[in-house]
Amino acid sequence: MAREAGHICLEERARLTLADLSFKSAKDLVTVADRRVEMFLVSTIKKNYPDHCILGEETGETTGTAPIRWIIDPIDGTTSFVHHQPFYSVSIALEKNGCVIASGVYAPVLDELFVAEKGKGASLNGTPIRVSDTFKMEHAVMATGFACLRAGWADNNLRYLNRIAPGLRDVRRYGSAALDLCYTACGRLDGYWEMNLNLYDIAAGALILSEAGGRVSDFNGTDRFPENGTAAANPHLHPKLLDHLKN
Ligand code: IPD
Ligand code: CA
Ligand code: CA
Repeated sequence: MAREAGHICLEERARLTLADLSFKSAKDLVTVADRRVEMFLVSTIKKNYPDHCILGEETGETTGTAPIRWIIDPIDGTTSFVHHQPFYSVSIALEKNGCVIASGVYAPVLDELFVAEKGKGASLNGTPIRVSDTFKMEHAVMATGFACLRAGWADNNLRYLNRIAPGLRDVRRYGSAALDLCYTACGRLDGYWEMNLNLYDIAAGALILSEAGGRVSDFNGTDRFPENGTAAANPHLHPKLLDHLKN
């Protein structure tokens, strides 16, 4: 389903015009592709599992009778998508009794599918993945994001960037929280932090990261993420990252 949704992304990107763009706020883009991909995912899930619940970024809650909820972000990284950049993904998480038990994140331009099942590990295109062994911040490359700037919030991530970046080897801002978590899971990144994310941004990537041996928490080190921030890293660096994020 993730791969098929990814193919829809590629089809839609090829014919996207300015008329297909709309705005949730001055800088927060949404496209006909976001909506078409989510409709595909919702209809496929409901056809196969009519009693399941769904939480989608664009359609909100779709009710069901089973204690099973699909948490979907049809295009995580719409800004990347619109600007012809490859770092966007289809993010799908499956939650049972409030616990994510399986997930998939697919980057269609890069043709990379990250998947995880609780207790059974994580993989990239079928190959098992693990977090990096980097244990010094000065040897680490970490990612972050700036939704706060898109929304114009005064309490934003720039102070954390100024605090953390000088101690790192380098920083990346790819544009997809789901991929930031997956890249940390496979060791391309050593850590990631961000403010103001939603459950559908991180539900799938958080399972993939934890199944790959990573740690993910809020900025205070508890499981109240993403509402209190999202901090993710390999086990050596997670506490060091938190030292810079705790209020
Ligand atoms: C966005 C991406 C981005 C993050 C934003 C999210 P969207 O998702 O995950 O990396 O910085 O906060 O909103 O809006 O493109 O689905
Ligand atoms: Ca998103
Ligand atoms: Ca989205």
